[in-house]
Amino acid sequence: MTKKRSYCIAGNWKMNTTPSSATTLVSGISHGIENLNLSRVRVAVFPPFININTVLEHAGGHIAVGAQNCYYEPNGAFTGEVSCGMIDDAGCTYVLIGHSERRTIFKESNTVIELKLKAALQTSLTPILCIGETLSERQSGNTWSVLQEQLNTAFQTITPEQSARLVIAYEPVWAIGTGVAATKDEAQEAHHFIRKHLSVLGKETSIPILYGGSVTADNARDLLSQPDIDGALIGGASLKHESFVSIIRTAALLSEN
Ligand code: 13P
Repeated sequence: MTKKRSYCIAGNWKMNTTPSSATTLVSGISHGIENLNLSRVRVAVFPPFININTVLEHAGGHIAVGAQNCYYEPNGAFTGEVSCGMIDDAGCTYVLIGHSERRTIFKESNTVIELKLKAALQTSLTPILCIGETLSERQSGNTWSVLQEQLNTAFQTITPEQSARLVIAYEPVWAIGTGVAATKDEAQEAHHFIRKHLSVLGKETSIPILYGGSVTADNARDLLSQPDIDGALIGGASLKHESFVSIIRTAALLSEN
């Protein structure tokens, strides 16, 4: 008998929602999933910092909450920044690190991302490391070297034991917010490559690898059925409780097979 699958379905709300609309959204999700069998499905949402408290209050028992970013210093004169210890103590479970919007718009380098990863691992947070290639990198045949470089730097001082506490999100930049998701074969190929490279680096290879980039209620089943795709990190479709719940339902059904 083959082992049953587990999934993680995460909603990255980005710079969307106010405290009141965040409360409505998380309450809608919580209500929508209450009758699903989530014994092998982890659900998480990533609201803007200012909405984390209210979302934690209204999340109910099945929804974990995470932050979209962090700073690597524990405290001090870093105006506008939030440390991993603060995020942890606020009651969050996860923190996103190295999202492509942080890399491109806010110029975060692989080195800064490594520092953030190390800082998160000093707390009880589970870091979700985001990696992925741009369209021009893919078109010029550099997808694998870009992913390798992102993994090599992020993991250089992470022990194999620490690597077991991580989640990776493969988010091809060309698929984010474009409506053009990677095909199930493209996504599976990249996830398989990432797992193989983790093994080359001597790190834990069984960690969850989530796919992100234009995941919708319509393509979730195809993507989540792939052997190396352990969940999804969803932007646009996580902002409406109906579509997010529908993706969670798909994962719940697949986890029962
Ligand atoms: P979309 O689902 O809107 O493409 O965003 C993906 C993403 O960036 C999740 O972190």
